[in-house]
Amino acid sequence: MVHLGRVFTDKDIADNNILPDIDEQALGPGGIDENEFTTSVYGSVHAARDLPKHQMPDDEMPREIAYRMIKDDLTLDGTPTLNLASFVTTYMEPEAEKLMVDAFNKNFIDYEEYPVSADIQNRCVNMIARLFNIPAHEENTNAMGTSTIGSSEAIMLATLAMKKRWQNKRKAAGKDASKPNIIMNSAVQVCWEKAARYFDVEEKYVYCEEGRYVIDPKQAVDLVDENTIGICSILGTTYTGQYEDTKAINDLLIQRNIDCPIHVDAASGGFVAPFVNPDLVWDFRLEKVVSINVSGHKYGLVYPGVGWCVWRDPEFLPKELIFNINYLGADQASFTLNFSRGASQVIGQYYQLIRLGRKGYRSIMLNLTRTADYLAAAVQKMGFQLMSQTRGQGLPLVAFHLNKAHGHKFDEFAIAHQLRQRGWVVPAYTMAPHAKQQKLMRVVVREDFSRSRCDALIADIKLAVDELKKVEAAGKLEQHQEHLRNHATRTGKHQSRMNQHYSDEKHSLQGKHGKTHGVC
Ligand SMILES: Cc1ncc(COP(=O)(O)O)c(C=O)c1O
Repeated sequence: MVHLGRVFTDKDIADNNILPDIDEQALGPGGIDENEFTTSVYGSVHAARDLPKHQMPDDEMPREIAYRMIKDDLTLDGTPTLNLASFVTTYMEPEAEKLMVDAFNKNFIDYEEYPVSADIQNRCVNMIARLFNIPAHEENTNAMGTSTIGSSEAIMLATLAMKKRWQNKRKAAGKDASKPNIIMNSAVQVCWEKAARYFDVEEKYVYCEEGRYVIDPKQAVDLVDENTIGICSILGTTYTGQYEDTKAINDLLIQRNIDCPIHVDAASGGFVAPFVNPDLVWDFRLEKVVSINVSGHKYGLVYPGVGWCVWRDPEFLPKELIFNINYLGADQASFTLNFSRGASQVIGQYYQLIRLGRKGYRSIMLNLTRTADYLAAAVQKMGFQLMSQTRGQGLPLVAFHLNKAHGHKFDEFAIAHQLRQRGWVVPAYTMAPHAKQQKLMRVVVREDFSRSRCDALIADIKLAVDELKKVEAAGKLEQHQEHLRNHATRTGKHQSRMNQHYSDEKHSLQGKHGKTHGVC
């Protein structure tokens, strides 16, 4: 619960204040004298105080001091390039950054004021829809799409569209429309749980099993009933990066003559599979696929804050969800959760699409695939068991777990903590329910994870395992793990700022089954 910030009481603040114990008078014969402070950053009165945290200060502070103090504070954050937990882009070319900075002050929703930015979004929608094989060659194709903050917003919108379409059909047939459900793999990213919960749709899970971490198409289709609004199929699951078999789900639905749409969650795979695995049929080539989301900020290669959703036809995007926003006399159709947002990310996406082209994306994605295969071979050589695919059959990530036959007493979480000490963020997760609490580690291979950085990681994984083996042999594993748990995490002094109020939630797959809601 990092993001739901807790508001501290005055008592909490007083309890945490260690200042009264320090005798500041002892610093000089005259005690504290405001005149002793200079205008230099570290000689200033601000450098002698903690940064304001609970109350907006009454006075200003000089801008260079504010800049330096915040910059210093941020140095305790991790290094984005060493964060191998995340799919989200950590490198863009300076020209892209410049375009994005130049657009910081543009509110994207203000179509009338910034018509070119709006048009750039539409150009991106067109390119992405074609990348996903929308049948634009057919004259009556009426596809549409929008940019979003990320795949989560895109998935919320897609869920709303599926729900509304289903409700309209039920009501038109004079049937009950109060119990919608959606079918998905229990290894879905947490945004699907959120979408279902926020919009009152029952979650129907196809559970993973030991050795199968993707949806079983037959089980998925067997679960469909008259209240099903749609099936989610994932192109690149968050945990093992495997591509779910959307074609098999599509074919079964057709075979059984079931009217049930498929939404493909291509958050990560949407910008990988078309380049690495173009013959894989997962997109609008399949007639039951009605909408697809992709994160521009993952393998779309843009900094965080952009996603996309494309619908095959207005039939799958009911009118009641669309609002016409009137700006200075012009109507623009809008389907978003938020209203105002920056234009920079959409512009960054356009830059990448036209700067790299298909050839550029393909060469980057092929390099990532090669690096992932190299790392996969290395961890297998070290004795780990591989859970992800190689040779471009899945996302360029490496998911692996300890070989149970080796009988180690330490687990994947211990290795993750050990690696943190070297600066690497390689997360450990507990798999989705019914997979025997399988633990795994996952390295996401991103654009800036070069072969030489990969070699450094391999050496450090080996070092971490050797260290843990030594501690295990000395019978000191428990103390060691406790030490790492308490001291090697990044949150440190920020720990007390986390919101513990909801930490015992029991409603989600994490709360109920111990599955880790992975960061992505
Ligand atoms: C399969 C899948 N769907 C959805 C999401 C959420 O994406 P975003 O972070 O763009 O909201 C993720 C994040 O990793 C994901 O892996």
